[in-house]
Amino acid sequence: MLLTGWSGRCATCAFRSPTAATFARHGIEKIRLTGGEPLVRRNLERLIEMLAAIPGIDLTLTTNGSLLAKKAQALKAAGLKRITVSLDSLDDAVFMKMNDVDFPVARVLDGIAAAAAAGLTPIKINMVVKRGVNDASILPMARHFRGSGHILRFIEYMDVGHTNGWRMDDVVTARQIIAMIDAEAPLEPVDPNYRGEVAERWRYRDGSGEVGVIASVTQAFCRDCTRARLSTEGRLYTCLFATAGHEFKPLLRGGASDAEIGLAIDEIWRGRGDRYSEIRTEATVPLQKIEMSYIGG
Ligand SMILES: C[S@@+](CC[C@H](N)C(=O)[O-])C[C@H]1O[C@@H](n2cnc3c(N)ncnc32)[C@H](O)[C@@H]1O
Repeated sequence: MLLTGWSGRCATCAFRSPTAATFARHGIEKIRLTGGEPLVRRNLERLIEMLAAIPGIDLTLTTNGSLLAKKAQALKAAGLKRITVSLDSLDDAVFMKMNDVDFPVARVLDGIAAAAAAGLTPIKINMVVKRGVNDASILPMARHFRGSGHILRFIEYMDVGHTNGWRMDDVVTARQIIAMIDAEAPLEPVDPNYRGEVAERWRYRDGSGEVGVIASVTQAFCRDCTRARLSTEGRLYTCLFATAGHEFKPLLRGGASDAEIGLAIDEIWRGRGDRYSEIRTEATVPLQKIEMSYIGG
């Protein structure tokens, strides 16, 4: 689960609704269910119902889209407001090379259509760009989603975890991506929706929609980051590039009062000093960072 506001995420999830409500009372404004793949979680709809009942929480979810066509209506009925779908190419071979998955692009596109029909909007599409693997998919993806009402966001390839073999040479920068699209379909910048928004917003000058870039490598936004992540094992992480988390499960399951949990949250949050993206070099890449599948993207 990604908790934000301090914007916060649950990697689906040691969090039960009373815990999420405690976080909400301590300033969380947004919860993102991520993973891992949230749509494979048993009783996900029930979890969404409980989270959706917390006042003042913006509830969303990030998925690979493989089960979305089947589940979109039920997710909406459970109280999910909107959704983000990961899609790195429209070409099956490139898509599978990026993600090591065994389902075709058509399944994800069907999922996106089902989510739109269910009203899980605005839909964001996340495309991670890796040089030499899917950079040739940037313009086809931009063309495909221009005018669709969905917001395509390009993410700079990051050294998440410690097994993805990241090199700076793999990164196509947000600047390069915007320049590429702008040369074909002129863009202009748009103000952020709120302070700390991770995606930089751009719109087509002809009014045919919006794209975003997440420049977490070339334009680190650690100073404005308001995100925490709660893993399925009940550990709280204050950075996507953390090497260790804070044990929360004993507190959550051990009968701690709301006030005690609140104090622990405050202490962890005030004590954090994470700035990995600001200090990243090729030398920091081998650090034993927690894999993204545990704490969500
Ligand atoms: C780790 S996935 C988990 C949720 C879900 N299974 C999915 O595929 O969307 C969450 C997000 O992380 C992003 N992501 C994965 N690997 C990344 C990397 N190396 N650099 C940047 N973003 C990455 C993906 O774009 C995806 O939208």
